[in-house]
Amino acid sequence: MTLSTQSKLARRMALIQPSATVAVATRAAELKAAGRDILSFSVGEPDFITPAHITEAAVRAMHEGKTRYTAVRGVPELRDAICRRSAARRGVTHTPDEVVVSVGAKHTLFNLAFALFEEGAEVIVPAPYWVSYPEQIALAGATPVIVETTEASGFCVSRASLEAVTTPRTRALVLCTPSNPTGAGYDEAALREILAWVAANNVWLIVDEIYGELVYGSFQHRSPLSLAPELKDRIIVVDGVSKTFAMTGWRIGWMLAPKAVAKACDTLQGQSTTNPCTPAQYAALAALDGPTLPVEEMLAAFGRRRELLVSGLNALDGVSCRMPEGAFYAFPNVKDLLSSAKPGAPRTDVELCTWLLDETGCAFVPGEAFGAPGYLRASYATSEATIEEGLRRLNAACTRLRAGT
Ligand SMILES: Cc1ncc(COP(=O)(O)O)c(C=O)c1O
Repeated sequence: MTLSTQSKLARRMALIQPSATVAVATRAAELKAAGRDILSFSVGEPDFITPAHITEAAVRAMHEGKTRYTAVRGVPELRDAICRRSAARRGVTHTPDEVVVSVGAKHTLFNLAFALFEEGAEVIVPAPYWVSYPEQIALAGATPVIVETTEASGFCVSRASLEAVTTPRTRALVLCTPSNPTGAGYDEAALREILAWVAANNVWLIVDEIYGELVYGSFQHRSPLSLAPELKDRIIVVDGVSKTFAMTGWRIGWMLAPKAVAKACDTLQGQSTTNPCTPAQYAALAALDGPTLPVEEMLAAFGRRRELLVSGLNALDGVSCRMPEGAFYAFPNVKDLLSSAKPGAPRTDVELCTWLLDETGCAFVPGEAFGAPGYLRASYATSEATIEEGLRRLNAACTRLRAGT
C-alpha cells in the first residue's frame, strides 16, 4: 500500500490489529502449500464436518424457496428454538424479542460493542482473552481495561481484581467461559464472586458461552444467568452453533439480551448486514432441535484428545499445562523453556512459535496474542494421530532447546 493510500484510511483503522490467530493459520497454510509437512495446532474450529441432518435441513430450506431476506434478527422459529434451548440449559426464560441472530458470535459481539460502548467508556476484559474482545471495544471508541488472571487461580478473574479497576466509567465486563484461549471454565464459586461485583455496580455482564456445551470430565458449565436470574436485565449471553455443531462456516451466532439492547442491535444490524444467511438459519434450527448423538460423538473425541495432548505436554522438558475444563484448547506454560534458552534460541513465546513452525512444522499461537506472554495456545481440534506426531516433534524440539543444539 502506498503512503498516500494509507493516509486516506480512517483513523480508527490504526486502533486495531489483524487477528493473530488468523495470521498463524495463514503462515502455516503458506508453508503447507509450499510442500512442508505442517501439523496445525492453531485452528479455532472443530475438524469435523457438520452433521448430515443439519446440512440436509439447509438444502431442504433452499429447495422450499427459503432463500430471501428474513427478519433482520432472524426467523421466528429459530429464535423460538434458541429460547427453548436456553431455558432448558440455563433455567431462565427469554422471549424471541430478546434474541438477535447474527453472522456468527463474533458479529454478535461486534454489534454489542457498537450498541453499548463509546468514547470515555471502560470495558473490563480478563486476560488471557479472546483476541477480538479488546479490538472490538477499541473500534467502538471505548477503552479495554485488561485485568490479568493467574494460572494458580485457574485463569479466573476475582472480585478483588475487578474492584481494583472499577471506575465511574466502567461500562461492562466481558467474560468467556469456558475460555478461548485457556480452556478454563468458571465454577459456581468464581461466578458468584463476579455476580456480586455486577450486582454492586451499574454494569453489563457480557458472557460468551460459545464453548458452553464443550466441557469434559466432571466439570459442569454454569451460566452466570442461571446463578443470578434477578440480574437478567444486566446479563447478556452470547452463543452460537459454530463450535458445538461444527458449523463455523455457516456463520450463525446470537445474543440473549434485555429487549432494549436486542432492539438496538437489530437496528444496527439492519443498517449493516441485514439478516444472517437464510438457509444457514434453517441449518441452525435443525442443529438445535435435532438428534444429540453427533454432538456427543464429537465431544467424546475432543475429550480423548484433551487427555492425550495435556498429558503429552506435561511430559515435555520445560513445559507444564493445566488441565482445561472445556473448549478445545490447551494453554501450556513455556516460561521455563524460554528462561533456560541458550544463546540464539527463542526467548519469547512469539519467537518460540516461529521457531517451532520453521523447525518442526508445528503451528501454535503465541500467548502474547491473548495478553499472556510465556504461554502457547494448542488447539486439539485435530486428530489423535496429529497430536501424537506433534508431541513427538515437540519432545525432540524441547530436548534440542534445553541442550542448546
Ligand atoms: C471465545 C469466542 N467467542 C466467539 C467466537 C466467534 O464464533 P463465531 O464463529 O460464531 O463467530 C469465537 C471463535 O473463535 C471464540 O473463540
